[in-house]
Amino acid sequence: MSYQALARKYRPQSFSDVIGQETVVRTLQNAIEGQRIHHAYLFAGVRGVGKTTAARILAKALNCVKGPTAEPCNECTICREITEGIDMDVREIDAATYTGVDNIRELRDITQFQPARDRNRIFIIDEAHMLSTGAWNALLKILEEPPPHVIFMFATTEINKVPQTIISRVQKELLRKITLDDLIARVRKIVDAEGIEADDRAIEIIARRGEGSVRDSLSLLDQVIAFGGRSISAADVATVLGLSDTTFFARIATLIAEGDHGGILEALDEASETGRDFKMLYRDLLSFMRNLLLVAGRANESMLAVAPEDLPAIRTAAEKFSYSELLRIANLLLRDDETVNRAEHQRLAVEIALLKAATFPRLRAVEQELAGGAAIPQVAAPRPRAAAEPKAAPARREADQAASANATIESFIERVQKARPLIGGYLGAAKSRKRDGNKLLLTFADSFTADQVSNARAALEQIAAEVFGEPMVIEVKTDSPAAGVPAAKSSSPLRDDPVVQAFQKHLGADIVESRKR
Ligand SMILES: Nc1ncnc2c1ncn2[C@@H]1O[C@H](COP(=O)(O)OP(=O)(O)OP(=O)(O)O)[C@@H](O)[C@H]1O
Ligand SMILES: [Mg+2]
Ligand SMILES: [Zn+2]
Repeated sequence: MSYQALARKYRPQSFSDVIGQETVVRTLQNAIEGQRIHHAYLFAGVRGVGKTTAARILAKALNCVKGPTAEPCNECTICREITEGIDMDVREIDAATYTGVDNIRELRDITQFQPARDRNRIFIIDEAHMLSTGAWNALLKILEEPPPHVIFMFATTEINKVPQTIISRVQKELLRKITLDDLIARVRKIVDAEGIEADDRAIEIIARRGEGSVRDSLSLLDQVIAFGGRSISAADVATVLGLSDTTFFARIATLIAEGDHGGILEALDEASETGRDFKMLYRDLLSFMRNLLLVAGRANESMLAVAPEDLPAIRTAAEKFSYSELLRIANLLLRDDETVNRAEHQRLAVEIALLKAATFPRLRAVEQELAGGAAIPQVAAPRPRAAAEPKAAPARREADQAASANATIESFIERVQKARPLIGGYLGAAKSRKRDGNKLLLTFADSFTADQVSNARAALEQIAAEVFGEPMVIEVKTDSPAAGVPAAKSSSPLRDDPVVQAFQKHLGADIVESRKR
């Protein structure tokens, strides 16, 4: 028999098996017993805390042959068909792939019919925050005059993206993160049921790493079992985590930078052998790149999403790359984030995304070429703030003076760096920032960076409007290559080096210091 993921195998089938959601469970059961059943529910909470699970159990409790009942029997045909997901009257819809208004119209038509067999026609709409505005409006019309025997159950991780008009018409159930103690008990119970030996320390690390999500803990447990077999220790967990964490991602980033396609496929193959979830791997890789960028950009370390013990490794990894190289890799990976998230074949999607990223110009090769020469130019990372800068080169100082004459531009950039670190990084690289009435003029040395900023213009204008207290228009410009190398600087032999000039032209790089290697 093929291996079934533990999270699926141990999905609770009755309310009594759901952990950590006592309030929600009690509310639902009381409502059923008091015959106060709503026609729309909204289950909200972070990933893997029981939203879909609760919706399915509620559907069974309402439609069970012996129901409506506080606990489904799980034996009647209806209960069994709902568990298997084949009940005609209980439809599960993934909003992520079902966003169009036309589909909702179709849904509205269906709701006009009586249930085929069950007591209620139930629609479980998962990832509800992905629905389009048109879809919500269509749903709103249904909710305003709910047909009898139709019940909607929405599940979402992002309740703030659900329109207020909908929220006011549904019964809200907020699911909480699971406490560490509850997670430990759950993991222990499953380990025992599987007949696997595990020491307490191993269980605790697995529970802790779930960060409140049962699903995340259980998929880590899957990986550890795939790695350690029937008996697992804290060292096994650490090894698996080590594989998945800093070292592994640093290796991937290096392979991308080096354009090593074979190496990338090999690394992903190893990841697959340890039972990794590829969607999560991609998400973790992105968050790893963000951490590197923050470290390289000298951001406040409290902004990093890492455990303190991982920090030294992150710093070491960050040193292996230039800032522009990090920006480039992060940017390439971000472009495929959506695709990977939606992909049915996740491993394939991740492979393609990483190979794609690895085919882009190899900055590392240029640096190595330079290493053969006299010195290596360090690509400048954006400064956290102008005031903190020591004696700057003439061109820089000019920009700084303009900036200090208008301190709000700096507070705007700071705000962006907090809210959107990646875009903030690009913004910080602006060669000049000027305010002209309600216009913000940003000039960049290269079109790559300028494009990134342009793409985020809508979001930036919104932030600018908040900072300046009036509507702002952002204009992005690219310096001509000639202007990118100021005359005053052209005397040093290093500046005359064609490769260095290429760096300046394409990346807006600046020579900070020269080092012998
Ligand atoms: N409260 C819980 N009690 C017991 N097991 C749980 C609980 N929450 C989640 N699980 C486990 O995690 C798996 C996934 O849960 P579920 O699909 O309900 O999460 P979700 O909140 O809908 O997450 P997502 O936002 O990722 O869809 C379940 O199959 C079950 O094994
Ligand atoms: Mg779910
Ligand atoms: Zn039943």
